Amino acid sequence: MNTLAILWPREERPVPQSTEWRPTRFGRDVHAGLRAAAKAIPAKYFYDSHGSALFEQICRLPEYYPTRTERKILRDNAREIAAIIGADVEVVEFGAGAAEKVRLLLDALPRPAGYLPIDISGPHLTEAVAPLARHYPDVTIRVVAGDFTQALPLPAPLPQARCRVGFFPGSTIGNFTPDEALAFLRNAAAMLRSEGSQGAGLLIGVDLVKDPALLHAAYNDSAGVTAAFNLNLLQRINRELNGDFDLGAFDHYAFYQPTQHRIEMHLVSRRAQTVTLCNQRYSFAAGESIHTENSYKYTPASFRQLAEKAGFRPAAMWTDDDSLFSLHWLALPDA
Ligand code: AVI
Repeated sequence: MNTLAILWPREERPVPQSTEWRPTRFGRDVHAGLRAAAKAIPAKYFYDSHGSALFEQICRLPEYYPTRTERKILRDNAREIAAIIGADVEVVEFGAGAAEKVRLLLDALPRPAGYLPIDISGPHLTEAVAPLARHYPDVTIRVVAGDFTQALPLPAPLPQARCRVGFFPGSTIGNFTPDEALAFLRNAAAMLRSEGSQGAGLLIGVDLVKDPALLHAAYNDSAGVTAAFNLNLLQRINRELNGDFDLGAFDHYAFYQPTQHRIEMHLVSRRAQTVTLCNQRYSFAAGESIHTENSYKYTPASFRQLAEKAGFRPAAMWTDDDSLFSLHWLALPDA
């Protein structure tokens, strides 16, 4: 029999249709981002329930290679990955979302002891793990709702687990600046290390530097799903912060920035306009943009270097035949 526990630290819940400025984290970040000289809103706010559904659609697009390529790497190398990680581990997934890819890992591992998914969207995650609890009756599942980019207290390690193994697929690390990525890796190392544990580490998916034309297509799909995903941020602001963004007055704009090895996503104002949200007015010049996302791409060497700086020992890497995507095993020294 498994256990399914929901651990619910303080979550900031947005209050819909407020006419006043609500001091939610979302409200504060949007306000600060639109007042900055170069307007920007953190990419983590894409993921309300509609944004999460649009992202799942993106993952199935023909142009968006990362999801299917990472799955294939996981499937093709499952045996070797399982042999390295071993039995009796608790898998900690950072930003679990739909909690789907982890099935490939749980299926491959010999006798996984536990699964501890962390996600900012608690209700979404609770729904997503219910089928897992039925499918893996011997795995203790404990859900943590919270922001894993902050130092988050985790429940005590399972007594039956030898160690904790982090899982961070999808190249979500690419949505952090290099400094944020380093801070995330250091924080993850601290969360995964526990007294007397042996064999802990992090299995992480990282998108690779490649032909800019392939990158451009992946973020400018012909069905317009990525554009809808980007514009949904304005819809969310309208709904949760009582805004009056005209979605038809902004264009999705995504391009590869080769010197920084990153895709940048923006929403560009089609004309000079003023937008009001929670009684605050923001002016846009024609062509002015809101920077909504960075998606950094790494070389195997540049990523290993970052991981080493964070205290990990890069011990194995798997990639696909076209070197589009990489999966790294980063070991932690035994405690
Ligand atoms: C979640 N993250 C890794 C995606 C990416 O590719 O950077 C988000 C995304 N943005 C546009 N398409 C996909």
